[in-house]
Amino acid sequence: MKTDLNGKVALVTGAARGIGKAIADTLAANGALVVYADISPTLEQTVADIPNGTARHLDVTDAEDIAAGIEWLVQKFGGLDILVNNAGVNTAGHRVTLEQFPREEWDWIVNTDLTGCYLVTKAAAPAIFKRGGGRIINIASVFGLVPARLQCAFAAAKAGVVNLTKAMALEFAERGVLVNAIAPGSIPIAGSRGLFSGKDPIMKGRLEGMLSHIPLHRFGKCEDIANAALFLAAPENDYITGSVVTVDGGWTAGYSRDF
Ligand SMILES: NC(=O)c1ccc[n+]([C@@H]2O[C@H](COP(=O)([O-])OP(=O)(O)OC[C@H]3O[C@@H](n4cnc5c(N)ncnc54)[C@H](O)[C@@H]3O)[C@@H](O)[C@H]2O)c1
Repeated sequence: MKTDLNGKVALVTGAARGIGKAIADTLAANGALVVYADISPTLEQTVADIPNGTARHLDVTDAEDIAAGIEWLVQKFGGLDILVNNAGVNTAGHRVTLEQFPREEWDWIVNTDLTGCYLVTKAAAPAIFKRGGGRIINIASVFGLVPARLQCAFAAAKAGVVNLTKAMALEFAERGVLVNAIAPGSIPIAGSRGLFSGKDPIMKGRLEGMLSHIPLHRFGKCEDIANAALFLAAPENDYITGSVVTVDGGWTAGYSRDF
């Protein structure tokens, strides 16, 4: 898809790699000035070959860091039109039951995935309002719609993102801001490709089981999410707000196995 985002300023959190980088690259390729925000030490490298991309350290769990980042962005670019709340974390590989789930991990996941979305939006929204409107896209998960076992914090945080998106859409409509969420299915990213290769001992044997739940019978690509985000951010979308777009190969459409 191609659209015209010339003159638009976008902020994408968690943009150093994976889905966030793909979204930021796609917005930039369509003309937006894009701030790639992340805590990763590799952030500068990510942006090096993007002429209209700028790196900015921004920790979505730190209200002071966010406030400084938004102030810097508005001074440098004159305003903000598109916010993508993408930064997110989850337990990698090890899965435990709720009664064994460590409090520190619960706090880390909920603070990053859900509270981070609230904090960044709270700080950034006034800059979007000043432009007379814009777009906010929150990256949720299919597990925010249909939870998986042994991922209580992630499931709860992403379900929160889903309803927070709708709450934002209700409040921001009168300010011209359309707010939507994307719920990705299973998207192998740089850090997780090992898990998806079939060689990882934890994942071995689970992959076929996962694929059997996906009607399209393949995992998704970061670009699948980026294309959905581009459409939601584009001027061509001017009537979708408060929606959750599932990009999951049909995973949450229903039971894909016969019974
Ligand atoms: N990959 C999938 O299968 C999948 C599925 C459903 C939802 N998601 C969601 O998509 C989003 C992107 O995931 P991904 O798979 O690309 O993950 P990823 O780990 O590749 O990227 C996440 C990025 O967020 C950054 N980040 C982490 N904590 C941060 C913080 N406090 N402040 C700022 N940045 C921070 C990391 O440095 C990293 O660059 C997340 O919200 C994730 O929950 C991913």
